[in-house]
Amino acid sequence: MNTPSIGNRILRAGLVGAGSSATNIATTIATIDDIELVGVADVNKEAARRIADQHSVTFVTTDYKELCKQDVDFIIISLPHGLHKEAAVHCLDAGKHVLVEKPIATTVPDAIAMIDAAKRNKRKLGVHCQQRFIDATQEAKKLVDGGQLGKILQANVSVMWFRDADYYKKSSWRGTWQLEGGGSLINQAIHPVDQMVYLLGNVKRLFGCWAHRVHDIEVDDNTCAAFVLESGAFGTIQTSTSTRATFPARLTIFGSEGGIELDGNVLTHFKADGTRERTDFAAREGGQVGSAIDPKKFSVVAHARLMRDFAGAIREDREPLVTGEEGLKSLKVVRAVYESAGEKVIDID
Ligand SMILES: NC(=O)c1ccc[n+]([C@@H]2O[C@H](COP(=O)([O-])OP(=O)(O)OC[C@H]3O[C@@H](n4cnc5c(N)ncnc54)[C@H](O)[C@@H]3O)[C@@H](O)[C@H]2O)c1
Repeated sequence: MNTPSIGNRILRAGLVGAGSSATNIATTIATIDDIELVGVADVNKEAARRIADQHSVTFVTTDYKELCKQDVDFIIISLPHGLHKEAAVHCLDAGKHVLVEKPIATTVPDAIAMIDAAKRNKRKLGVHCQQRFIDATQEAKKLVDGGQLGKILQANVSVMWFRDADYYKKSSWRGTWQLEGGGSLINQAIHPVDQMVYLLGNVKRLFGCWAHRVHDIEVDDNTCAAFVLESGAFGTIQTSTSTRATFPARLTIFGSEGGIELDGNVLTHFKADGTRERTDFAAREGGQVGSAIDPKKFSVVAHARLMRDFAGAIREDREPLVTGEEGLKSLKVVRAVYESAGEKVIDID
């Protein structure tokens, strides 16, 4: 497929899905000089129209395939998880670069089909894991890669959040295997799982449990897992969307020479001499990156950094920081917990 010369011209973006995340994405694009939102697609035309009107976008459609026929450089997919694959493969086959919301997909074969479609069409595929771009994560990466924590021994991902009954009742896709593909783990906890694999590498073996203990849903409102990383380090995952004892999403890493705790935008470095250094990056990043109780809270800064990286990947013909392959890593961990289901140990390839 020919790649038209992009040079320094403004990149034209189309948005598929016009729900709450898409609203944040459109707000983010408005802060970026060299990306312009030029079309919005949603089966709910009023939803598409609302975002389009807010951002002076003229092209509105209920069929994303029509958006693909427009002069658009890349498409951002912000749909229920179970629809990511079909839309992404269509847009990639139509010659568009694709930035898909997290999680990349609901199943590993779907994610692989998306990665294959990107390769086949020589287009970029990025996954919207904006937490890799916050300063706390980047500082943590320097500490881990620089060896300041010594040998990595253990890690813990904890997302003990609360979503009320309306969160599931008011949405036809949440709480279902087909369209959400899971619950507290695949939706709320995917960010710290992604941060963990970004910082420490792949999970090799896992035993996990999931259940819906409070909410009337098909999928998990609580999960717990123990795993071994390829490096030999151990780890645990704990998630909930049904506890009133809420905490910021937390990734803790324990090393032989120190440790770190990532609490949203706050990084605490536990040093070998027993001192600790706590840095809160929230103020310069426009607020917290995720909320234990409010799904609408978001940071424009983190999203904008991710989007600029994706635009840079298109312009410079390089890979974005979060490729399809990178997005697949956290999905494999999530799927292993569901497959394990309190019964078997799963080997992850
Ligand atoms: N990166 C983040 O921090 C973050 C935060 C929230 C949500 N998300 C992700 O964003 C995605 C969307 O979540 P949301 O909370 O905005 O959901 P939502 O329910 O608010 O919006 C989904 C939209 O998709 C539309 N839709 C459904 N089927 C469609 C189709 N075939 N074609 C076009 N539009 C269709 C619906 O009408 C709705 O407007 C999910 O992947 C979610 O995990 C990411």
